[in-house]
Amino acid sequence: MTLQGKKIVLGITGSIAAYKAAYLCRALIKKGAEVQAVITPAGKEFITPVTLSALTHKPVVGEFFTANDGTWHSHVDLGLWADLMLIAPATATSIGKMANGIADNMLVTTYLSMKAPVFVAPAMDLDMYAHPSTQANLDKLKSYGNRIIEPATGFLASALEGKGRMEEPDAIVEVIEAFFENRNQLTKKKILITAGPTYEKLDPVRYIGNYSSGKMGFALAEVCAEKGADVILVSGPVQSKVHHPRIRRIDVESADEMYETAMKHFPQMNVAILSAAVADYKPAQFSVNKLKRNDKEALTLNLVANPDIAASLGKIKRENQLLCGFALETENEFSNAEGKLKKKNLDFIVLNSLRDEGAGFQLDTNKISIIAANGEKTDFPVKSKKEVAEDIVNAVLSCQTGKVD
Ligand code: CTP
Repeated sequence: MTLQGKKIVLGITGSIAAYKAAYLCRALIKKGAEVQAVITPAGKEFITPVTLSALTHKPVVGEFFTANDGTWHSHVDLGLWADLMLIAPATATSIGKMANGIADNMLVTTYLSMKAPVFVAPAMDLDMYAHPSTQANLDKLKSYGNRIIEPATGFLASALEGKGRMEEPDAIVEVIEAFFENRNQLTKKKILITAGPTYEKLDPVRYIGNYSSGKMGFALAEVCAEKGADVILVSGPVQSKVHHPRIRRIDVESADEMYETAMKHFPQMNVAILSAAVADYKPAQFSVNKLKRNDKEALTLNLVANPDIAASLGKIKRENQLLCGFALETENEFSNAEGKLKKKNLDFIVLNSLRDEGAGFQLDTNKISIIAANGEKTDFPVKSKKEVAEDIVNAVLSCQTGKVD
């Protein structure tokens, strides 16, 4: 009974996959959950409220009030009652309404009032799913902190084949179970994460930087926060956004600023994960005025070393603190990574090689190996950066046993 006592609002929208909601309901209830079904008007065309109320032992909420006796159904109360909201199936229309706050039915009003984590399982035709409008709306939901349970690829009601069919109910239940199982693993832990590039100013209009997008560090921050940690995310200039209430984001620009911020907060932390691509050097002088071309054949820049944040934290690290670094290599990957692990006094290092397909800056995927201080090495396949973040956080969890109080 992995979901014993968990209160779940199950939102059902107008998709042919709504017939699977009956099985989903049963599966959640069998695991111990209490389910309140909320349905859109279009949803009722695909599955009857009678089926759902018989399974959940509760009246199905579909309207703002019951016409014959005027009973008001409070979406606000549902938002406070639930431990989790699951919208399965979620159509392109409902996803669009949720993304843009169009609260013209009970399901979307409940969604907007929801205090609990929200999971969305899209179901639609492959072209609708792939459309930039749907993808932009899903990105919006993600940016609100909602989790998308990606649709599966296969035979669709339209008789076409492709990505769009709602994930199978048993797989959805597994995602929900894993969420409840993992969400308290890092409760009361304070975690510092550095992310993104640093910009080293040359003059008022130019800087030296790198291609880091910060995606890996932001995914790590989200996973840590989802597992209950309070996260300080020190980020260089990036486009990425985070919304989890337990993430405090501090924006910095240069390596010096990142160093100051990390050094200030590290003593209060249990764990630090350093994923930032910090510039090793900065211009020796900042020119107040724009550097002019002046028809010079060549320009020589003098650079001076930036502080090494990882090594500095490694020096002040206490016995009960855990320090994890990254190594981005293009050659002699393992020996270079092991060298950094020792030199910077890290507990483990995450290696990504630019020679591996699917690894590196800007991408949504990564391929890593984790090398522990005792030399133990684990290789992982190419995964999404969110899944890679899960693997890294699992390494933190197995490392911290007995170490972080
Ligand atoms: N790092 C840091 N401060 C720096 C440079 C690196 O905190 N000034 C951290 C990175 O965030 C990463 C680890 O150190 O966790 C290794 O970074 P990387 O750039 O791979 O290594 P460097 O030590 O800079 O060595 P090199 O550039 O010579 O490979």
